[in-house]
This record gives sequence, C-alpha cells and structure tokens, in this order.
Amino acid sequence: MRTIIDLNRGWRCSVHNDDTCNSHHSPIYELDFDDSSWETVDLPHDSTVHQGFAAENPSGPRGGYGGCVKCYYSKWIDLTSEDCQREITIEFEGVYRNSNFFVNGTFVGMYPTGYTTFRYRLNDYVRPGRNKLTVEVDNEMQPGSRWYSGTGIYRPVRLILTEKDRFAQDSFVISTPLAEEEQALVQVEAVLRNDLPASVLAQVSAEILDADGNPVAHSARTRAVAFGGERKFTFRIPVPRPRRWSNADPYLYRCVLRYQRDGVTVDQQEKKFGIRSIAFTPEQGFVINGKREFLKGVCLHHDNGCLGAIADEDAMRRKIEAVRAMGANAIRTSHNPASPRFLELCDEYGMYVMEELFDEWIWPKRPGVFRDGHRSRVRIFAYAHLFRDWAEKDVRAMICRDRSHPCIILWSIGNEIDEMKALEGEQITNHLLNTVRLYDETRPVTAACLGMRDNFYLSADMLDVCGYNYSEEMYAADREKYPDRVICGSENASASFFEERGSYRKFLLCGRSGETDTAVSADPEQQAAMDRSKSDVRFRMDRAERSWQLTQANPFVAGIFLWTGVDYLGETTPEVWPSVSSYFGTIDRALFPKDAFYFYKSLWSDEDVLHILPHWTLPGWEGRKIPVWCYTNCDEVELFVNGKSQGRQTLDHREHFHLEWPDVTYEPGEVTAVGYRNGRKLTACQKTAGELASVELTLDREALQTGRLVYGTVRLLDKDGILCPATGEKIRFQTGGSLKIEGIDNGSPVFSDFLSDTVPSCGGLARVICRGLQSGEATVTAALPERNLSASVTLTVR
Ligand code: GAL
Repeated sequence: MRTIIDLNRGWRCSVHNDDTCNSHHSPIYELDFDDSSWETVDLPHDSTVHQGFAAENPSGPRGGYGGCVKCYYSKWIDLTSEDCQREITIEFEGVYRNSNFFVNGTFVGMYPTGYTTFRYRLNDYVRPGRNKLTVEVDNEMQPGSRWYSGTGIYRPVRLILTEKDRFAQDSFVISTPLAEEEQALVQVEAVLRNDLPASVLAQVSAEILDADGNPVAHSARTRAVAFGGERKFTFRIPVPRPRRWSNADPYLYRCVLRYQRDGVTVDQQEKKFGIRSIAFTPEQGFVINGKREFLKGVCLHHDNGCLGAIADEDAMRRKIEAVRAMGANAIRTSHNPASPRFLELCDEYGMYVMEELFDEWIWPKRPGVFRDGHRSRVRIFAYAHLFRDWAEKDVRAMICRDRSHPCIILWSIGNEIDEMKALEGEQITNHLLNTVRLYDETRPVTAACLGMRDNFYLSADMLDVCGYNYSEEMYAADREKYPDRVICGSENASASFFEERGSYRKFLLCGRSGETDTAVSADPEQQAAMDRSKSDVRFRMDRAERSWQLTQANPFVAGIFLWTGVDYLGETTPEVWPSVSSYFGTIDRALFPKDAFYFYKSLWSDEDVLHILPHWTLPGWEGRKIPVWCYTNCDEVELFVNGKSQGRQTLDHREHFHLEWPDVTYEPGEVTAVGYRNGRKLTACQKTAGELASVELTLDREALQTGRLVYGTVRLLDKDGILCPATGEKIRFQTGGSLKIEGIDNGSPVFSDFLSDTVPSCGGLARVICRGLQSGEATVTAALPERNLSASVTLTVR
C-alpha cells in the first residue's frame, strides 16, 4: 500500500553567511557537517520573512524589500530495510527557488522554478537507517521577481512510498465529459506502472462515493501489465442525477482508485472531484452546467501577508473566505501556479480559478521603479532566463498535478507577455497551447494580454479565451471585429484608493468632479501611481466604475478580475520604502476589508449593503465641507447628519455605482444613511468616537487544533464601544500557554515588523496570528502599555 509520510517537521535551517561556508572543511550537505547551530524550523518556511525587510535589500521595491537570500535546510529521516525495497519518492510542492537537493552527501537534482511541484526518486541514494536530506536554496539573484516571492521550502514536503507496481505519478485524472441534470459520466484515468521483475494481472477499480461516503457508482477491470511496462486504465462511469458542482453548490464527490493483485490491495489513491460542465462562448462568456455565470473575479498573489509566502492552509482559507464575503466567485492565481492545498480549498468553496503559468517568456521584464527620487527601469531576473529549458517541464508539472480540480476553469499561459505583440510570440503561443493541450483538453487556454489596442499579431486569436488586462473600452469594437473571440477581463483596476484603510486624507480633499483619463498606457496602474493626479481618489473611482460599466454594457464579456482582491507584499505602489506592499487590494494585507470591499459587495452580493465613507471621527474638519459617499445596493438613500437631512439620492446604474453627497458640513455626532431596497428600509450609521477607553480582542476560534492558526482582531474603542480609528497606538501582544505568535500586522503598507511583538494600530485595528503548539489552555493578550489598557482571551488547544 502507498504510504505518505509528512516531512514538514523538525528541519534545520541556516541562512548563508561566511560562517556557514568557510569555517567548515566539509560542505554543508556532507554527513559529518555539524548543523547543530542551525535553527530548528517546521515547514512550510519562508526565510525572507525571517530575514525581514530593509531599504537596501536588492529585491527592491518590486520584491517588497524582503531579504532574499541563499539558505540551507537539512533533515535526518529513518528508513527501514523494507522501506528501501519500495519505491521512494520525495515530493516538494514548491521551493523558491534554484534548489539543489542532496541525500547523504550526494547531489540528486536541481529545480530552478519556484512555483511548480517537483519530485525525486530516492532509491539510489538512501539506505536502511538514518539518511540526511539537504536542500540548498539560492534566491540571491535580485531583483528576482515583480512581487514578493519569499525564499525557501515555503510549501509542504512529503515522502511517498509505494510498491514496485503502482499508479504512476500524476496519472490519476478525473474529468466529467457529461454533466447533465439527469445523467453524468465520470471519466477516471490512471496508469499502472510495473517495475516488478514479472508481469502482473492487475485488478483496477474506481469507486465513486458521495460527500457522506455512501457508494454511488463503481467500475473495475482486470488486465495484465507487463514487467517494466505501463498500462493505462480508463473508466467511464455513469452517475444518474448527479449533484453538480458550482459556486452556488460546491458539492464534492470522492473517487477511490484501487489496484489489487491476487485480491490484495497494492496501491490506492483518493481524490475529491466535482461533476460539472464548463464552456466559454463568444456570445455568453462563461457557461457552467449549461447556465451563463459572470466571473466576479479577483487576482491574488500567493503571499499571506505577515506570514510571508508560506502555503499555510488556515491562512489561505481565510484569504478565500475574505474575497468570498465580498461576493467574488473567481480567483486568478497571478502570476504563477498555486499551491495544491489552495486549489483544494477553491474546490471546497466553489471558487472558479484561472491558474496562471508565467509572467515572463523569453523577454525579461523591466518594470519601472522609483529609486533615489528617480523613476527608472530595472531588469527583473524572474523566468526569462529559464524559459527555453524549463517552460515545457513547468507546463507539464502544473497541468498534470492540477487537472482534476473542478475549480480550474481556465489555464493561463502568461501575463502581459510582450512577445505576443511580435511575430515570434505567435510561435511560442502556439507551442504553449499545444503543450497544455497535450495534458488537458477539457479546459480552455487563455493569456492575460495588456494593451489590446496594440497589434497582437495573431497570438490573441490563437487563445481559446482572450484575456484583456484593462482595455475595457475595446470590448464593443473587438466584438464586432472578431466575432469568434471569447472576451474576458483578466485584470481590471479596483476601486481602492491609494490610502491606508481608515485614512481619508486624499478622500476628504477630492473634488466634486474629476477628469477621467481613459488612455491606455503600457503599464496603466503603475502609470497612475507615478502620476499623482491619477492616483487620487476620483481617478481611481472613475476608472473602477467605468470598468464595471463597460463590463456590464457588454454582456458577452465572461468576467472581471480585480487587481487585486487582497493587498500583497511587494510592488510597492505608489510609495517606496518604508512601504513594503501596495494599495491595490479591496482587502488589506491583514485581511481587514477596505471601503472598496463594500463597493464590490454592493455590486456582487445579494446581501444588503449600505456602507458610508468616511468614518465620522475627523478632528480638525469641524465646520468644513466634506464629501460623504455610500456604497450600497439600495435603490435610494437619504443621508442625515445629526438628524438633519442632507438629501435623498437615487442610485442610477446608468450614471454611477455609488452615491455621493459632495458638500456635507462635518460636525461631530453621527452620520446616518437610511436606504430603501425593494421597499425595505435599511439604516447605517457612523458615530464620532470619543477618547480611547478600552481595547477589545477577539479570536476567530474558541478551540484550536495543535499546529493550526487562530486569527485575533484588536479594536480600539471609546467608552461607548465606538471604534476609535486611531493610527499609531502601540499594541503589544503576548501569549501564555501553548500558543505561539506567528505574525502581527495592521494592514498598513508601511508596517513590516511582522515578527516583533508590537504593532501600531491602523484605523483602530490590528491583527495577531497565533499557532497552537500543544494541547492545553492558552491566552492571548493585547496591551497598550502607554495607556494602561489591555485585553486577554483564553482558548483551548486540542
Ligand atoms: C499589471 C500587472 C500586475 C501588476 C499591476 C499593477 O499590469 O499585470 O502584475 O503589476 O499591473 O498595476
């Protein structure tokens, strides 16, 4: 039987420095190398976040000024002589990047790419007893990424032991060629590999179970598989009246694939899957289970804020839950393959996924950065130097690993690839398309193209779905010109202002009307950021509303993918150090929603939304005229300041998607919105906060399993429990018992002291993320020592 051994605990890690290299005679991967002084770490692990952030780090503004280093990991594993008789494979879900792998002092292999899964067969390197694994990671070539990458073994690692006759890697594939209401056909494929010295009579079966574990359907076949050979088994299993997977009902079945020899199970694998049909058409966009569904998407980078790049299930879950709460139903994994667990979660939450392969083909990108007060272009050493040797392998690695996920509806072969605007891009596009299709023909292939006004030669129309980054104004004309083109917004500007959550400096000054600049430039968001007038509130809002309006006006467009759902580390726009992240997200890095979150929620969700901005604690603005806006799905809203009506407004989506009272005289007290939605009355209120009087700490779990994360929220309150939107109040965290602080944050781009114990509040909020260490009672305390305030919460770790 297949045995899977989790290898995530108890590694040793050291960051490269002169001591590591020179003071020992033997190289670090030798058996007698003394690594006892190295730090003990568990995986997934991100060395960059542990190195910290500094202005002089060569990763620069694009990499979020993270310390991108060379580092080593080592671990001893015990194997029995029976283990060594079996097939032994080590699987790394992702190591960023340029990893060299050694076993017992011998070099086994190298893998340069940071985002794809790779494996090594270990039989020729291991022996019964103790074995030493060493991984060298080299992320020193900087700037090496247009966003924060992280460094190290930042995704899980496992050992897989099988018999010599077993299912071949990544060969177990599930698809649903028929998914009608009355009847489905589930296709299960698997390759049996036989490395025994004799041929075998293999009984292979596929059993389908419903979500409660009840058997639904079954198919089996007995065939001989030659020694030293492989044989493919394909089952087409009817499932009557299936419960079909979709965003509204992400129902998952389970398939158990079993191989028996002489009645004894030799190998077994399981996969959850969804029964669903997908199609993209030029007229309807995205169609699932026969019905058109608009993709309300967000682009997400892979980092998890203060935790860095680690692919932690709990962190990923919360990120998905946060964008889902906004009404999003789709995610683009910009601009790289996702972690396997992330995709499983998307299956579970019913999020439609565009999984992306590359941000560079053969031409390196040279994005603009601000340095020493000047804007210049810097070459990024990301993937172009690897493309020719590694692209095919990486395509295979991603598609073969992920092709059974119901959540994946599109493969993207690249983001803003300039070669596509040149003749040579046609050949590469064609080659990548064919490579993808070699491994999966059930999903369309797209690319996220920037500047659709430019000549794309024929690359754009080689794609099954043509992804438009920005360029919404081209939709209508292109529909006429290219009637067979399937058009999808693959990246669209969000309505987030370039201000910290809770700060309204620019908002309060924004004028009554602004100029909308619809010109498309080479790097539009970046351009907007550099040009101050375009980074203002009005520009951002006009642009986002126009994007939504054009998307709505052209119902053949399959969807929209906001840049971005959540703020990510790196690409510090529009500010530079001490900013380590950007402001593009509708949700900040600490997963607190910004105003823009409610804007999209009002458009995307069925829930009532009536959100007022700004908040009503604005010292210094007394008696002055300020704008007040509402993001709402009410038909009409009347606004009151301390009971006095400021007028009633109707939301007319032909004009705009938010409501605005441009000249409201600010007076402390309260601002109330009374809205009417389909005849129902709703109210929302913002009150002026008094002096900070207490600190509130809440945890999002009452009980926690060992090894899992709990997220804590701090809110600063006045004596009446009104949120004080204070920024800069120092909050110190402490844990007692079996909890460890993994990271702290406040969502502000200028905060990066994630591993310290003190964080300044941002807009009255702060975040602490803790991990359960062992079972027992634990406490978390948040204190404002300068004000003598504190709050503690207890929870049980099991
Ligand atoms: C896009 C690009 C993204 C990000 C964004 C910032 O053009 O695809 O990766 O750089 O601009 O505005």
